[in-house]
Amino acid sequence: MLSPKMVDLLNAQVNLEFFSSNVYLQMGAWADNEGLEGCTSFLTMHADEEMGHMRRIWNYVQEAGEMPKLGTIPEPQNSFKDVREIFEAVYEHEKLVTAKIHEIAHAAFEAKDMATFNFIQWFVAEQHEEETLARNILDKIKIIGLDGKGLYFIDQEVGKFAAAESAGGGDASAT
Ligand code: FEO
Repeated sequence: MLSPKMVDLLNAQVNLEFFSSNVYLQMGAWADNEGLEGCTSFLTMHADEEMGHMRRIWNYVQEAGEMPKLGTIPEPQNSFKDVREIFEAVYEHEKLVTAKIHEIAHAAFEAKDMATFNFIQWFVAEQHEEETLARNILDKIKIIGLDGKGLYFIDQEVGKFAAAESAGGGDASAT
């Protein structure tokens, strides 16, 4: 049984995950346009993962006997200066998502809604991983740089992250 406040929080998160997917899908399209195969594959895969997150919450709300609701999803940014701007935006966006997930965890705990508190723990762990990943990519950009062949090597490195995520199964098929 979900309180009306919890349904609102979870619906807001559904929207944010949907928006996140669009943000990364659009970034992937930009990367593809720039000929950056590794970044395209990483960002597109990330977009699929976000849809998995959205569905995970959607299903939870449904299973609790409530109706999930979609709201207005803003248009994502579609033009970027360079790859550094992309991954800085990814990192900032993931920090925002983490704050929202923690808000849900806090509200669930305060309301003694242990089912939701337990459910949201998966997202707490996932956010930790996603922030770490974005920070690792920014570190590589800082070390290698984007000048000369730097961009080529960064694209290769980001492509390796995508391959590793893919081998790990990701969570695009979350139910
Ligand atoms: Fe579902 Fe990357 O937050």
